[in-house]
Amino acid sequence: MKYKILLLDPDVKKNEIESRELSSRGISVVVARNVADACRLLREDGLIHVILTEWDIPADEGSSQSIKGAELFEAFKTLRFEVTVFLYTDQADLPYCKTGGSLSGYFYKGEHDYDDIVRKIRAEVINSKSRAPFFEKLLEYSRKAKDSWHTPGHASGYSVKNSIWVRDFYEFFGANLFRSDISVSVPMLDSLLHPTGVIKEAQELAARAFSARHTFFSTNGTSTANKILLQTLLAPGDAILLDRNCHKSVHYGTILAGAEPLYLTPSINNRYGIFGPVPKHRIITAMDHALAAGKKLKVLILTNCTYDGLIYDIADIVKEAHKRKIKVIVDEAWYGYARFHPFFYPCAMQAGADYATQSTHKTMSAFSQASMIHVNDPDFESFEDRFMEIFNMHTSTSPQYTMIASLDVARKQMMMEGYGLLSRCIELSETLKKSINSLSKFRVLELEDLISDEVKHDGIKLDPTKLTIDVSKTGFSSREVEHLLLEKHNIQIEKTTFNTVTVLITIGATHSKLNRLFLALENIEQMSGNRSPSKSSGIDDSFLKLSPIKFVPRFAFYSEGEIIPLREATDRVSVHMVTPYPPGIPLLVPGQIISKEMIEALNHYRDFQVEIHGLTEGKLKVLTAADEARLEADGYRILDVIED
Ligand SMILES: Cc1ncc(COP(=O)(O)O)c(C=O)c1O
Repeated sequence: MKYKILLLDPDVKKNEIESRELSSRGISVVVARNVADACRLLREDGLIHVILTEWDIPADEGSSQSIKGAELFEAFKTLRFEVTVFLYTDQADLPYCKTGGSLSGYFYKGEHDYDDIVRKIRAEVINSKSRAPFFEKLLEYSRKAKDSWHTPGHASGYSVKNSIWVRDFYEFFGANLFRSDISVSVPMLDSLLHPTGVIKEAQELAARAFSARHTFFSTNGTSTANKILLQTLLAPGDAILLDRNCHKSVHYGTILAGAEPLYLTPSINNRYGIFGPVPKHRIITAMDHALAAGKKLKVLILTNCTYDGLIYDIADIVKEAHKRKIKVIVDEAWYGYARFHPFFYPCAMQAGADYATQSTHKTMSAFSQASMIHVNDPDFESFEDRFMEIFNMHTSTSPQYTMIASLDVARKQMMMEGYGLLSRCIELSETLKKSINSLSKFRVLELEDLISDEVKHDGIKLDPTKLTIDVSKTGFSSREVEHLLLEKHNIQIEKTTFNTVTVLITIGATHSKLNRLFLALENIEQMSGNRSPSKSSGIDDSFLKLSPIKFVPRFAFYSEGEIIPLREATDRVSVHMVTPYPPGIPLLVPGQIISKEMIEALNHYRDFQVEIHGLTEGKLKVLTAADEARLEADGYRILDVIED
């Protein structure tokens, strides 16, 4: 049974008859007599995809109050936006019917035409909602077994399957991967760079699912999605307000656009080495100060949720930005699923943000690098041509079709079972938290542990699908815990800070995995014996104080510079970005002063064997004295303080 319908009528007898008729036609039916019951079923049963409801339904068992028409249909849509609602009524005419636009159709009970109802429901659920037009076309093409006289060179796998040297490559990935790895020379599969067919259709379905006006597929991750948007929205000389703590792609996008970055300092949790959201008052003040200073402030970009699962009260911030005519981009690399469960509402699109970028691959079923750009900006059509030009600038002319298929399928999955899967994630998270907290040396951090005082009153929430565990009582460093989990227990976690490890509970989590993680932690706790607990962060927390930025990054970036050892770089200015990965948040951006603390921090990351982009064999590129003098003379020094 793939889906169910919910039949809603206060009349028990009628419910019984209708239910029997529909069930005998192969449809699975659940019944409710009042709105409270219906809402409970909708909350608990992710398989419900269709509601057949009377027009006027009692609010609760025995209640004299009823909920009608538009208000009734909206109540269901608020809980489960993806559920299709049909009016199924004794009323033959509809003159009174204010539906609020949430109804998908109407059936008159007096006709007793159950075959017609079932046909329409199947058409809605099977033919419309659960389609994956691109993937279906790709399957169709692969099955046609055409001879390939075009790129890619492996020609549907023939070059490898007959090879005595690399046949193992073919065998490992399987025939279907090679058959479906095709090129833009296959017109029936449309073109990502100029979509008019099945890719266009798949993107439109994604837009509907993710509550956007338009959606575009990005096959080079959210890294590229961010750069595309920033180059579209910003011209040289424009200003952008960005969280200093945002992903490196945002900094790169700013450099590419030639815009002036106005950095917002995030809240910092020194105890656990975690960068948090930017305080709301700081964002608002910064917007006002920048505008008062005559900056051409066009864009605010924020990361929501953060890598550690901290969720902004985003709707309020969007409102404040829009009051000031500033466009809002929300980097939802880690939050793409939010649209599919009210627990996470509002997602950026629901909150009225103009753009959202999402790594569909990070938290849903898409292949790595498959991301989406969602657009809500009412002005978008006036510069869509520019957007497409920049989209083309950044997108390969040979995009991976398997990746596009995975985006199509990931959307379909979220639409059809996202609610149920996310409900399960929330439950699993609660179970895992309880079991970990039953150990004496591990503790799952709560919202209060994770946020600093600065953002206490900002309405921040915690995403339960990201669990951060304090490991300091074991006496092992988080890196040691990570190593033990991997080498001894075959468990790969998402990331560490100096005294925490973070695990993601994605839609791929299972009870077995959960219990294996618990057993592994229990084992590590035993192994830790009498070790004394490690210090709160294991290092001097002052490293989290980011040093100031002296020159506009684009111009520092294009300077000649010189390469010197990190140990000699105190008070010099960085030319490149220096980024520990994960999490991909730069400690140094072009133009930033390399303070003693930043050097210490980078050394600590090196001690922990974290990969550091921009640091090669302990050396990095800095501005020469002549570069600095030229940048000063050209007026590229950052003087303004925009925050309070
Ligand atoms: C906040 C944020 N934005 C963007 C990205 C880049 O996403 P992708 O890996 O899809 O390119 C990341 C990656 O970790 C990220 O953490």
